[in-house]
Amino acid sequence: MGGPVPGHAARISFHFHQEDLTVQPVELAKNVYWVGAVDWLTRDFHGYSTYRGTTYNAYLIIDEKVTLIDTVKRPYHGELMHRIRNIIDPAKIDYIVVNHVEMDHSGSMPQVMEEIRPEKVICSKMGHKALLKHFHQEDWPYHVVAPGEEINLGEKTLNFLETRMLHWPDSMFTYLVEDQILFSSDAFGEHLATSERFDDEVNQDVLMYEATKYYANILTLYSPLVKKLIAKVQEMNLPIRMIAPDHGIVWRSDPGKIIEAYSRWCRNEGKGYALVIYDTMWHSTEMMAKAVADGLLDEGISYKLLDLSVNHRSDVMTDVLEASAIVLGCPTLNNGMLPRMAGFLMYMRGLRPTNKVGAAFGSYGWSGEAVKLMNQAMKEMKFTICHEGLRVQYVPEHGQLKECVELGRHVGRTLKDFMAGKEIESVL
Ligand code: FEO
Repeated sequence: MGGPVPGHAARISFHFHQEDLTVQPVELAKNVYWVGAVDWLTRDFHGYSTYRGTTYNAYLIIDEKVTLIDTVKRPYHGELMHRIRNIIDPAKIDYIVVNHVEMDHSGSMPQVMEEIRPEKVICSKMGHKALLKHFHQEDWPYHVVAPGEEINLGEKTLNFLETRMLHWPDSMFTYLVEDQILFSSDAFGEHLATSERFDDEVNQDVLMYEATKYYANILTLYSPLVKKLIAKVQEMNLPIRMIAPDHGIVWRSDPGKIIEAYSRWCRNEGKGYALVIYDTMWHSTEMMAKAVADGLLDEGISYKLLDLSVNHRSDVMTDVLEASAIVLGCPTLNNGMLPRMAGFLMYMRGLRPTNKVGAAFGSYGWSGEAVKLMNQAMKEMKFTICHEGLRVQYVPEHGQLKECVELGRHVGRTLKDFMAGKEIESVL
């Protein structure tokens, strides 16, 4: 571990943190190294809560043509370069592969290009366009690869698989033929900062929770494309010994585990449980939510009560991924919904989960539009809405709470039919 240099106190605040770390590369296979960076600090990724931090993975292949696959977020440039220097002089790198242009992987490209001056910057056609729009450098030595194109590095060979819109237009995978390693960009990753680099070295429950959260919050919208991609990879019959994504751990012991999970998630098959997602102003909607949950339980349906004031939207989305029924509760405020529910629905609509039973409820004072608005949002997501919605003026009394219990039972019964594959007409 390096320390502050006497007489160089000005370096401490930023550079000490990023550049004086012990930065060992990790070997994946002979002459293939992880040289990325671990971000223990980040807690928010454009609205996605990252309580366990993340990593920005980059990989170095030593061959006749030395190749760097992806770079890191700009503040972690020093960590990347130190790891590379522990293996080779960065100036000896011949090729840089840019699998994905989003700034968490390309942010340090300007400095990296300055220091390395590679012979080729290898990217997809859309990657080329995106790099130009990000860094405005016409004279970088771009080498656009077509899907399936091979580049020989000496003893090793790279093959490129276009994965447009997974999750950006520029996204692609790079496959290292001889070592059977799939460098999968954002796909198959998770936001998880760890000292370990491999799947078999970390807690499996934490790993799969974070992988689920990652899929739910980044890839749900692209599930139809994930489905096609998995079918394509299976058709190509690519032997995959390891999956090396751009975030989190490398799947070396069981890459099939994450492929199988993606195959399941992209089919939007729920596990039969319900979520009661609500916000409340003076606890009336909360009382209704608990009564609805009682009704679900009466029908033997497992549920979670998720108050949006204490559950982050990205955690709620993680539960939404495999839920089969979504029951939304919100009071009316200024002829609309409470801001937290409005924000959550905008977020969920953007990710477009499908194949769910839906219903809504809420208390109101004099206008009561919230239930209609929640129903509208669920209709747009093509949920099977099984009830026109339940509203209670001001504070529910015993009889009205019984109606809420009955709503929960109705959702429960509908859900059982839905899971049994019966045809159910949406009421809206
Ligand atoms: Fe990890 Fe789409 O960037």
